[in-house]
Amino acid sequence: MKKKFFNANIYRNDTASEIMVDNGRIIQIETNLPKCVEEIDLQDKLVLPPYVDPHLHLDYVYTLSELGQEGAGSGTLFEAIELWPKFKETLTVESVRRLAMKGIKDEVSQGVQHIRTHIDVTDPNFTALKAMLEIKEDLKETVDIQIVAFPQQGMYMYKGGRDLVEEALKMGADVVGGIPHYEPAREFGDKSVHDIVNLALKYDKMIDVHCDETDDTHSRFVELLNALVLMEDYGTRTTASHTCSFGSADNSYAFRMMDLFQKSKMNFISCPTENAYLQGRQDTYPKRRGLTRVKEFKESGINVAFAQDSINDPWYPMGNGNMMNILDNGIHLAQTMSPEEIKTSFDLITYNGARCLNIQESYGLEVGKSANFIVLNESSVYESIRKRVDVLASVRNGDFLFRHKEMAYDIPLNL
Ligand code: FE2
Repeated sequence: MKKKFFNANIYRNDTASEIMVDNGRIIQIETNLPKCVEEIDLQDKLVLPPYVDPHLHLDYVYTLSELGQEGAGSGTLFEAIELWPKFKETLTVESVRRLAMKGIKDEVSQGVQHIRTHIDVTDPNFTALKAMLEIKEDLKETVDIQIVAFPQQGMYMYKGGRDLVEEALKMGADVVGGIPHYEPAREFGDKSVHDIVNLALKYDKMIDVHCDETDDTHSRFVELLNALVLMEDYGTRTTASHTCSFGSADNSYAFRMMDLFQKSKMNFISCPTENAYLQGRQDTYPKRRGLTRVKEFKESGINVAFAQDSINDPWYPMGNGNMMNILDNGIHLAQTMSPEEIKTSFDLITYNGARCLNIQESYGLEVGKSANFIVLNESSVYESIRKRVDVLASVRNGDFLFRHKEMAYDIPLNL
């Protein structure tokens, strides 16, 4: 049955205010559309395509609480990686499932409908991967999940690491992952990047690498990754996550590389809250921000998206699945607040993430696409971000996943 959503302030659309939906799909976006039996007043609120979280670790969420901790240790990336295997031994399919569902609920209840999750596959039993493959299928009507075969302990820190990644791809992971900066020597980091690209080509999978998540400016695996996918014309199916060291690289190197990134069309993901917390740990002062060159990427037309990365895990204790919080932190750290930049800010947690996930053909508020969108508790982009407003409603295939009443005063503030 047809239904009409009216009084909508549609993001990046200055002319239309009504969305007609039939059979879960958008059939018209205009003004003054014909009457419908079911009409829903969106009260002049901002309407966006659903939030995309393109980088999250769903097998880690809430493990910090499970460890009985309410804060991280010394707060370095490498300490957290070392801590993880002790916990990993205790995982069961049921325990991963229980905690992952909490993380997914956090995100979906705040407007996310697309998640790319890295799953640690350096476990010969693939416990977490089995759980995530089940969850992905069970929840497909509510949220789209892509799974990255991610070797948290590296491919070459021990024997057989690379083969576990290959096995995970055969089991159904969608994306090849890697962590070259954690490999024990540069040569092995390079080798892992070659493996990642070769495996992606062999199994027709996308690529998403934890790449140069360090302040060490000598960590330049992004250069090799980009060169390989440029050669294979595979850049649009490839993402370099983090690339923190690129935020410390000098300009002569950075601008040469950005020229090459433009050529490959490779995607980038920055995790602002997590990397602001984890990086700069060995700095005294001045202390680095930990972010890659988000502003320059945007200005160069290089696709870059923001992500949550961690929810209550040993890497970062404060994640809560709120993409507005990620955007808020990201635009501060990247210093992107000109009127032009603000106007398109939501791209960083919507359209740009969709491009990383290679779902741009089916994603967005356009005729013919699935009627998936969220409604924010403000009318304009600027006011939504300035007030860090909540998501009032999330619509999936034309139906509400949830809908909040606006916060109303019982006792009005007398000012
Ligand atoms: Fe990550």
